[in-house]
Amino acid sequence: MQLSDSSSRILAGLLEARTGQQLTMSRRWRIETALSALLRERGIGTLDELITILVMGKEPSLSQEVVEALLNNETYFFRDRAPFDLLARYALPELLQRRAKSSRVRIWSAGCSTGQEVYSLAMLFADEPEQWRGWTIDILGSDVSTHCIDRARLGSYSQFEVQRGLGINQMIKWFEETSDGWRAAEALRRPIRFQVHNLLEPFPHPGDFDIVLCRNVLLYLSPEKKALAFDRLAGAMAEDGWLMLGAGETVIGQSSKLGADIKARGLYRLTGDGTRIEKRAADRRAASGA
Ligand SMILES: C[S@@+](CC[C@H](N)C(=O)[O-])C[C@H]1O[C@@H](n2cnc3c(N)ncnc32)[C@H](O)[C@@H]1O
Repeated sequence: MQLSDSSSRILAGLLEARTGQQLTMSRRWRIETALSALLRERGIGTLDELITILVMGKEPSLSQEVVEALLNNETYFFRDRAPFDLLARYALPELLQRRAKSSRVRIWSAGCSTGQEVYSLAMLFADEPEQWRGWTIDILGSDVSTHCIDRARLGSYSQFEVQRGLGINQMIKWFEETSDGWRAAEALRRPIRFQVHNLLEPFPHPGDFDIVLCRNVLLYLSPEKKALAFDRLAGAMAEDGWLMLGAGETVIGQSSKLGADIKARGLYRLTGDGTRIEKRAADRRAASGA
């Protein structure tokens, strides 16, 4: 399959316009591999033929399929492990105290791909039933990819996927064997909901979340789009909430609303510039008695 420069520019432009993700020249080799299955399924001979169909606008759903195929959905259970240890050791014990009155914890995994991050979070709570007895735990997973969210909702993983990051005990405890893999057990799925959401769009739950994870999602956004995404994430955090990013990612120098938590490396909090958001969130909490 030969990809001309103008075709690769059009495809990269479509991806960036829809999701903010930039495909730099050095990463454009991915295009051909990423789209080969879609071309086969649709019976389209070449990438240039695909571009012609896209440009003519005859098949509106095709452009969404192209964008989804170009996204990097790499994920696995308890990815990088240390962030989950940090949540279990530091953030969750803090929330047990701070939210004792409302007995409610809300977490948002933004850019959750096929759901492994979300089910990993659910296991942090499910593995400590005594500690969380009587609490309401809400875990929201969102992604711009409809295909990913459909898969995440299903909670079904192949043998290969389930073994990436999960120990045998966790696998047997929280997943049920099916004819073609493993499915998250009902008890694990209960606190979880999923929705399709683009991080660059306004988010409908201001100030709600005690912990927001946005890991390995914003790496390839332009500085402007990254700043916009950080604004959206900050707007969704409770006044005393945390943001967690992926390894090697930071808000420093990229958002005036967020700063490092000096007590826990790897977690970020709202800064003074987030005061308006903090105030609104505090008012909401006071009104709801939380
Ligand atoms: C590399 S995966 C990371 C998944 C998970 N957070 C992890 O660290 O394992 C990045 C995910 O971000 C999603 N994504 C990319 N741009 C997005 C956007 N603008 N809004 C929401 N999700 C986005 C992709 O579809 C993909 O599933």
